[in-house]
Amino acid sequence: MDWAALREAVEQCQACALGATRHQAVFGVGGTRAHWMIVGEAPGEQEDLRGEPFVGAAGQLLDAMLRAVGLTRADDPALEPARQAYIANTLKCRPPRNRNPEREEMARCEPFLVRQIELLRPRLILAMGRFAVQSLLRTEEPIGRLRGRVHRYQGVPVVVTYHPAYLLRNLPDKAKAWEDLCLALQTMESLPPPDALG
Ligand code: URA
Repeated sequence: MDWAALREAVEQCQACALGATRHQAVFGVGGTRAHWMIVGEAPGEQEDLRGEPFVGAAGQLLDAMLRAVGLTRADDPALEPARQAYIANTLKCRPPRNRNPEREEMARCEPFLVRQIELLRPRLILAMGRFAVQSLLRTEEPIGRLRGRVHRYQGVPVVVTYHPAYLLRNLPDKAKAWEDLCLALQTMESLPPPDALG
């Protein structure tokens, strides 16, 4: 599936019960040449209404964090891919009342994220929160034990950090999220230039 077919498949998906309760599926946003990929949890109320990931309060914090390291979700061909972040969620549909994703829902939805990663071929993935981490790294370890080092998903470096909604409730941990962003930045800078990868 190419980007257009994948988007269509996500928008039409009825593979789990969330298809019946969502307003719309939330595919993802950002330039498809982006070097960065951000993976979150699932759409909330605002995202379900607007059809874009991270547009509520957590999204404002995420945008501020991205800006702080010179990144944007804007899909503007004039921007360098190194400055662009593509944002997607582990679940494409809102769980009712923002409850946690269920295992079965994550399993049904996972092929969409897998294909997004294959198409984007990001140079680095920032996994935000435990559901993104569970899905990408196949581990139940808490974020606190996984952050601070670089993991891999199919060879792509993965940096783990707290979910912005968690940071809004736990302000002191923002300093740790900043460290995680700095680790992501350093990791990105240490990668061979894209041309060298062929
Ligand atoms: N939280 C997420 O993980 N994703 C969104 O799109 C919004 C809030």
